Amino acid sequence: MKVLLGVGGGIAAYKSAELARLLMQQGHEVQVVMTRAAEEFVGPLTFAALTGRKVLTNLFAIESAIEHIAVAQEHELLVIAPATADLMAKLAHGLADDFLTTLYLAFTGPVVLAPAMNVNMWQHAATQANLATLVKRGHGIVEPGSGYLACGMTGPGRLADPETIAAAIERAAHQRRDLEGEAVLITAGPTQEPLDPVRYISNRSSGKMGYALAEAAAARGAQVILISGPVHLPPPRGVELVAVRTAAEMREQVMQHLPAAGIVIKAAAVADFHLSKVPDQKVKKTAARVSLELDPTPDILAELGRKKGDFLLVGFAAETQNLQQEARRKLESKNCDMVVGNLVGGSSDLGFESDENEVVLILRAGKDISLPRASKRAIADRIFDEVLKLRLALHAANGS
Ligand SMILES: Cc1cc2nc3c(=O)[nH]c(=O)nc-3n(C[C@H](O)[C@H](O)[C@H](O)COP(=O)(O)O)c2cc1C
Repeated sequence: MKVLLGVGGGIAAYKSAELARLLMQQGHEVQVVMTRAAEEFVGPLTFAALTGRKVLTNLFAIESAIEHIAVAQEHELLVIAPATADLMAKLAHGLADDFLTTLYLAFTGPVVLAPAMNVNMWQHAATQANLATLVKRGHGIVEPGSGYLACGMTGPGRLADPETIAAAIERAAHQRRDLEGEAVLITAGPTQEPLDPVRYISNRSSGKMGYALAEAAAARGAQVILISGPVHLPPPRGVELVAVRTAAEMREQVMQHLPAAGIVIKAAAVADFHLSKVPDQKVKKTAARVSLELDPTPDILAELGRKKGDFLLVGFAAETQNLQQEARRKLESKNCDMVVGNLVGGSSDLGFESDENEVVLILRAGKDISLPRASKRAIADRIFDEVLKLRLALHAANGS
């Protein structure tokens, strides 16, 4: 692939030399573009020697008057590492006062940014607002790592390592934007049903599958609303997070956001039972045996199935046995278009807390599709591939 590597003026500029070397090793053609400030940190000669190409630096000291346009057209992907706070601000606002920023505006391919800066600069509202703009524009962001920074502070801001940036480049190169203009509603995580002010019943759902779906949908250009029970995960960038606790709260938020959604994916592990009358005070420990009388929670998926009109409905079935039969039964009884079934419990290390999963997709019309063990993020993309096929088939059937 023909890659443009933009280097900004930060301490981490020296690490970009390693990135250039890695990309070359991987068989890419690399053209480096440095900002004026970047040259204060590393000499262009280092990059020229590594890539075998003259480094582009000055907008006005080049052979052709429109070289930035020609360079933009000749290359397939633009990665900027390190993306400084200043560069991110310029890109977000479309300023074009040097070769790299002018080239950025002329470039139409995928863009990957690997920010690196002092933790306070990273967390500043201005930087975060610029970042949100760039995410919304569809650019891949390689999150900075946390740790000891050159400025002596500790926190997020360290340039991701070259392997991580190279992997993000690979992903961006193959990224489809086939969910652009689509509103996707995703539920994730467990719910917590209180027993008293300090205790609750919940389940082992980590939220990883739902969050992976949200990340995949956003990367493919969708507007994503993620309604999540309590989890320990950062929300994916560019996603609207609605935090809930109980099944009743989840139902309320789902119904509120439903009118906007074209695709609804219920990946949350919603509690099936709850205590209707929660005591105001903590229940004291006694020697006596305690029994709980639980009532069913609202069945959100069934309610969605009854309402189904313009949106496509995908449910999840976590089963401990008879996976395919149980998942199909759920699809029929809840009127879903697809049910994603996975086996949980037992000796399997897959499912709830794992980063990987192995699932079977049960479709309303068509054969079951088994997806072998893969990362939840990869499974998420496969689910959207099938959702889009389903939608096309439904449109074709309806003649629209
Ligand atoms: C020693 C030193 C280190 C710096 N490191 C960073 C950094 O890591 N990230 C950053 O955003 N800015 C950093 N800066 C500030 C940038 O160099 C400055 O904002 C510059 O205008 C950025 O230029 P650019 O837009 O070409 O990247 C640093 C400045 C100095 C003097």
